[in-house]
Amino acid sequence: MTTQGQLFKESPIEKALAYPTFRYMGSKHRLLPWIYEVLKELSFETVLDGFSGSGAVSYLLKSMGKQVTGNDFLHFSYTINKALIENNSSRLTPSDINNILSKNSTSESFITDTFSGIFFTKKDLEFLDSAYWNIENLIPVLKRELALTSLIRACIKKQPRGVFTVSGDLSNYDDGRRDLRLSLEEHFLNQVELFNTIIFDNGKKNISLNSDIFSVPNSTKFDLVYLDPPYVPRSDDNCYVKRYHFLEGLSKYWKNEEIMQETKVKKIKKKYTPFSYKKSAEEAFSKMFDKFKESTIVLSYSSNGYPDLKKLVSILKSCKQEVEVFQKDHKYHFGTHSTAKRSDVKEYLIIGY
Ligand SMILES: C[S@@+](CC[C@H](N)C(=O)[O-])C[C@H]1O[C@@H](n2cnc3c(N)ncnc32)[C@H](O)[C@@H]1O
Repeated sequence: MTTQGQLFKESPIEKALAYPTFRYMGSKHRLLPWIYEVLKELSFETVLDGFSGSGAVSYLLKSMGKQVTGNDFLHFSYTINKALIENNSSRLTPSDINNILSKNSTSESFITDTFSGIFFTKKDLEFLDSAYWNIENLIPVLKRELALTSLIRACIKKQPRGVFTVSGDLSNYDDGRRDLRLSLEEHFLNQVELFNTIIFDNGKKNISLNSDIFSVPNSTKFDLVYLDPPYVPRSDDNCYVKRYHFLEGLSKYWKNEEIMQETKVKKIKKKYTPFSYKKSAEEAFSKMFDKFKESTIVLSYSSNGYPDLKKLVSILKSCKQEVEVFQKDHKYHFGTHSTAKRSDVKEYLIIGY
């Protein structure tokens, strides 16, 4: 007999809300209950999450039993998707963990050499170097993605505000939180435990892509495409690579990335996206809707984005017969705790059938 408690646990939204937050800019984690209410009324089996970011929406879709393709042009986002969406069953065992923690005497020391005095302690950086090269030997491959995702979230937890724009003496961010005191190794162990519990098999072959949205292969036809592109920023601070360059580099040990040596925090180059510029955004939406016109299109958008709702609806109407808009009030938080401002915006789900 199934108890009420078990039934509750099995509900897709309950499952989805167990997904950890990655302090990801623009994450839809807090909007998942609303997104679920809207999506559950639509009929679809295969789905693309075209700008998957932290993976929160992909995980909701997976929890709903859909066949999910998650995509993002950032490699660390792709890594998270591999570990938690594509991966239906690989978990890290105590012996995997021992192997990862053992000192790798042949590892490179790029992270320690590059980031000493910038982020974390020397011991933390040495741990990252050694752990990365031990992780390279894990089999099957999805275990590597899972271990890397645990390293990534360990770094997010330890870095104040989870962003890599601030460095050096961070004592003014120290509000006594335990997260700032734990070593990266301790954080890593906590993350492994957490991720091992949220991996599940939804009976579908889910996949993760690391592609520009315009290069997602047209060969796969998705019943539904969920699109959550970045907004034209109000300041340069909105750039994903600027905030998360360390995580992006770590996910691939900075392979094929060039460090901008003159920058204080040793950034890598930002990635161009047409959605971030007023002059290219409208055309980008138009091109993207056209690319996915055979699918039901669900666009996440907000009232502080550019172009505005009216314009977006008219662009979508040029390739879709029927367009419906759902709206929800939402508050975004900006800044540190002491200076936090709230901004009232309306969140939209714009659906083209
Ligand atoms: C608003 S965030 C998505 C947030 C996500 N829905 C979540 O809940 O975490 C936008 C994402 O779009 C990605 N991105 C920006 N331009 C892109 C492009 N041209 N192709 C693919 N991904 C892109 C960024 O890396 C970022 O992760």
